[in-house]
Amino acid sequence: MRVISLINQKGGVAKTTSTLSLASALSKLQKKVLVIDIDPQGNATTGAGINKTELKATTFDLLLRSNQIEECVTNNGVYDIVGTTIELASAEYEMFNRFLRESLLRKKLQDKKNYDFILIDCPPSLSLLTINALVASDEVLIPVAPEPFALEGISQLINTIIKIREINENLEIKSVFITKFDQRKKTNIEIKEGLEKMFKDKLSKTIIRISSDIEKGQFINKDIYEYNPKCNAAIDYMNLAKELI
Ligand SMILES: Nc1ncnc2c1ncn2[C@@H]1O[C@H](COP(=O)(O)OP(=O)(O)OP(=O)(O)O)[C@@H](O)[C@H]1O
Ligand SMILES: [Mg+2]
Repeated sequence: MRVISLINQKGGVAKTTSTLSLASALSKLQKKVLVIDIDPQGNATTGAGINKTELKATTFDLLLRSNQIEECVTNNGVYDIVGTTIELASAEYEMFNRFLRESLLRKKLQDKKNYDFILIDCPPSLSLLTINALVASDEVLIPVAPEPFALEGISQLINTIIKIREINENLEIKSVFITKFDQRKKTNIEIKEGLEKMFKDKLSKTIIRISSDIEKGQFINKDIYEYNPKCNAAIDYMNLAKELI
């Protein structure tokens, strides 16, 4: 079992899109996948086609109540997901006074050997929720969108990961990968070159190209491999999944 957090405190870089696309691609490659939505926005939950009002137990219950993973999981026909509602936004306050507050998720994931991959969709912050995801993870994947200020905050993110190693010494940056890449834009090429210099071998060779079908599919909560498996981004995410295996 490998637990992987998709993390970048910058908003809108495609953390959720990447989590769900990789979950689908890995499932297509016969891997058993669990997604954990640890972002109170709950975009991964909705994007996976789950009706939030029908959730019996959520990430909130997993972190702060006695519920075990099995009680919090919903299957969407492709992979399992622990969904969330906005209730999770109030979790941090409650978590703060808990003993071992950074390790609440890690404790619940121990011995969950029935999954090949657990993918955690993190919020756009370095909050206690994100810290819980990192402490529970073996690896991190960092999606970066080639937008203005893309590199700002990356060093803070790396420093956070280094600090987490004090409690989770095996945490590894698996790779940094570029999302929403538009090769017609000079700025995208420039940011790619900046990332190559910054991350060297850690920058994934697989680049996720921009595809309007990603957004179109998300509007109707449809899996990209159902909506258009032939679009550039679907092909790229499949390659990223193969690279991960
Ligand atoms: N390859 C792509 N091509 C085109 N649009 C994309 C692509 N990947 C993601 N997007 C779009 O970018 C936007 C942000 O994506 P997403 O919600 O996955 O980012 P995020 O990092 O999870 O955001 P947040 O920080 O709010 O959690 C969405 O509108 C999504 O449809
Ligand atoms: Mg998101």
